[in-house]
Amino acid sequence: MPRYRFAEPPARLITPKSVLLNRRSVMAGMGAAGLAAGLPRAGRADSLDAEPWPDSTDDTQTSYEVATGYNNFFEFGTSKEDPAEHAHRLETDPWSVEVSGHAHAPGEIGIEDILSDFDLEERVYRHRCVEAWSKVVPWIGFPLKDLLARFDPTSDAKYVEFETLYDPDQMPNQEGDDIDWPYREGLRMDEAMHPLTLLAVGMYGEVMPNQNGAPIRLVVPWKYGFKSIKSIVNIRLVSERPVSSWEARAPREYGFYANVNPEVRHPRWHQATERRLHDGGRIATEKFNGYGEEVAHLYEGMDLTENF
Ligand code: MTE
Repeated sequence: MPRYRFAEPPARLITPKSVLLNRRSVMAGMGAAGLAAGLPRAGRADSLDAEPWPDSTDDTQTSYEVATGYNNFFEFGTSKEDPAEHAHRLETDPWSVEVSGHAHAPGEIGIEDILSDFDLEERVYRHRCVEAWSKVVPWIGFPLKDLLARFDPTSDAKYVEFETLYDPDQMPNQEGDDIDWPYREGLRMDEAMHPLTLLAVGMYGEVMPNQNGAPIRLVVPWKYGFKSIKSIVNIRLVSERPVSSWEARAPREYGFYANVNPEVRHPRWHQATERRLHDGGRIATEKFNGYGEEVAHLYEGMDLTENF
């Protein structure tokens, strides 16, 4: 079984040096707080400086054009081209994320503080959508657990619920009923605290494009793409298992766990292979997307056919 690993760190996608140097000198001059408070949007983070992480895939990356031109983001329409065409309407500055529920220190954090406070890493993850296509994307982000730690979850926090912005003026398809808006997702606490679970703020060395979930989205590499909720505004620490939007819409088709699993068929398509968007070729889908060694223990003793 091929594993999505590499012996050597991947060649990093280097952002233009001049842009990085410029950003660094701006930061040195103003201090991170100044950068956060005062810079216009274009200067805030045209490029994101991130350390590559050794535990990513070495599979061929999907091109930036395909990764940003073939998307699911139902708030902007249901076709794969709609997000690229319409997501420019989303205003991501200012933006903040509220963390509430079972936490000793609930509160709100602005995207500028997120960018300046957390160590960004580049991780190349395959993300496999449920209709059997996959992309390999160099995400830039940081572990979700680092953000949660800041709000100090209590022992009553058993699950984490996420919510996308609700604003039909900016997200026109929220006028329709494709989904019970706002888009919602959930993870069990141990899944949320797993170091592979990322809050991504960029990709390909750049700030997150709107159609990919700007300014901050989830990436859970061993789960189907729909768990990776975009444009997050609310994170709630809860004691009961939340119901995700897809689960609410079609409970027989989309389960809470949504672990990539070639052994579990979707009622309308098989899930044993996937079409790689970069060349159209098909490959066998790996259980847990190739991350079994890291995550299989989370599901020990569970029937994954039942808990799909
Ligand atoms: N998040 C929101 N808010 N709305 C959505 O419609 N679609 C999901 C997920 N996150 C979606 C979302 C689905 S079905 C997939 S496959 C991935 O985003 C697609 O991510 P990508 O467009 O970056 O490939």
